[in-house]
Amino acid sequence: MSVASWDIEFDGLIKRFGERTILNGISFRVARGEIIFILGTSGTGKSVLLKTLTGLLRADAGRVLVQGQDLTYLQEEAYLDVRRKCGMVFQHPALFDSLTIEENIAFGLQRHLGLSLEAARPRVRECLDLVHLDYDELAELLPAQISYGMQKRVSLARTLAVQPQILLFDEPTTGLDPVTTKQINRLILELSRKLQTTSMVVSHDMDCALEIADRIIVLDQGRIIEQGRVDEVKKSPVPLVQDFLAEALAGHAETTSSDSGGGRP
Ligand SMILES: Nc1ncnc2c1ncn2[C@@H]1O[C@H](COP(=O)(O)OP(=O)(O)O)[C@@H](O)[C@H]1O
Ligand SMILES: [Mg+2]
Repeated sequence: MSVASWDIEFDGLIKRFGERTILNGISFRVARGEIIFILGTSGTGKSVLLKTLTGLLRADAGRVLVQGQDLTYLQEEAYLDVRRKCGMVFQHPALFDSLTIEENIAFGLQRHLGLSLEAARPRVRECLDLVHLDYDELAELLPAQISYGMQKRVSLARTLAVQPQILLFDEPTTGLDPVTTKQINRLILELSRKLQTTSMVVSHDMDCALEIADRIIVLDQGRIIEQGRVDEVKKSPVPLVQDFLAEALAGHAETTSSDSGGGRP
């Protein structure tokens, strides 16, 4: 079998809910190893787009491919393989409250690979290391005993545990303070490069996109209204893109002034 050079392909994707067409002919491809940002205001269909990749939602027309495999007519069982390739990181950490940090990260390894907690331990340690958290300090704690920013890192470590080749981030920095936002953003960049994953980030945060994206795609009303490398998108004449850019610049000014104002929240 030939190896596809595209990890993700959307070809004329249409997704409707009843009378409403949410995605109206979306076509783009993501190369292996690329960090791609999908920008759009809330309600544009960014999460819907991600869900068509993991089979939580099916396209009404058009095609969605992961590493060359067409998902259009895939049987439910065959999705398990796709879901293993695509690690999803949600906006909220969604850790199991009653499990320790170690048990949370080991969960997928135990469930999918049948490992014991003991056997999963080296990988848990490694994944905590990847997100710059200390195993000895945290393994035995419950999620409620660590900060929200740390919980986000743990949830990222949990996704990494099963070694996905594609990372899907749904609003990874929404609702975070500026300092944590920066940390998570840098972590996405660092991990994508180090692990050579393909990363697709859906977000309304242009600031984050400008910092780490290889390429940006802007969605509005079901269609792609702009796309290109960061330097190209920065010069976009499209009004909505200019609004996003202006907001990113304003946010930057705010962060800089609050940084100089003092300590971490
Ligand atoms: N399962 C569903 N059934 C009906 N409508 C949905 C469903 N999922 C999402 N929608 C609608 O699709 C639109 C896009 O949703 P979503 O992808 O969550 O937006 P966002 O860009 O904020 O992630 C919204 O109007 C939402 O109400
Ligand atoms: Mg969403």
